[in-house]
Amino acid sequence: MNYEPRTFSIPTLEGISQKSVDEHLQLYQGYVKNFNAISQKLVEYGMEDSEKHAHALAELVRRRSFEFDGMRLHELYFAQFEGGAKPLDAQSPLGQQLAGEYKGFFLQYFKAVGNMRGPGWALLYWDPVAGQFLVGFSGEQHQGHFATLPIILAMDVWEHAFLLDYGAVGKAKYIDAFIANLNWDVIAQRFETARAQ
Ligand SMILES: [Fe+2]
Repeated sequence: MNYEPRTFSIPTLEGISQKSVDEHLQLYQGYVKNFNAISQKLVEYGMEDSEKHAHALAELVRRRSFEFDGMRLHELYFAQFEGGAKPLDAQSPLGQQLAGEYKGFFLQYFKAVGNMRGPGWALLYWDPVAGQFLVGFSGEQHQGHFATLPIILAMDVWEHAFLLDYGAVGKAKYIDAFIANLNWDVIAQRFETARAQ
């Protein structure tokens, strides 16, 4: 089946320009389009002579998870801005779990992970087996994931997310702007869903 790009109602953001958001949304739509295109090709190659197409098949199978993860991570990313900035409720389960694990240093830690060199994503996962969070860095968007764990918070730190507004050395400023625009109600709801699984 073909995947459809989602639409988002994103308010005016502080420190992240409308032009940057619009271009970023176009990149997101490109992931959906490429995922569909590769999926279609794989049907063809799989049904035809898969031995004859072995090299193309191998490349496309690998490439497809890159496109899929780009699609889903951007959906998590843009949804976090919907409804406008709302602070984290310290009394909520999410607020209490973060405070219990990170002793007030969560944002500092998460920002430092996001500021690592190289394109990728800083991600907060919930591990229901251990009952704790894991912060990770996915290189590009398909490497370094914690398999099966739901993602609670997703921060895009590819250059395309900040180059327009802050230049090539402006990642830290973009990260501050990203955090300031978050609707923590959305993130808290993801935690509730993940905990209930
Ligand atoms: Fe992106």
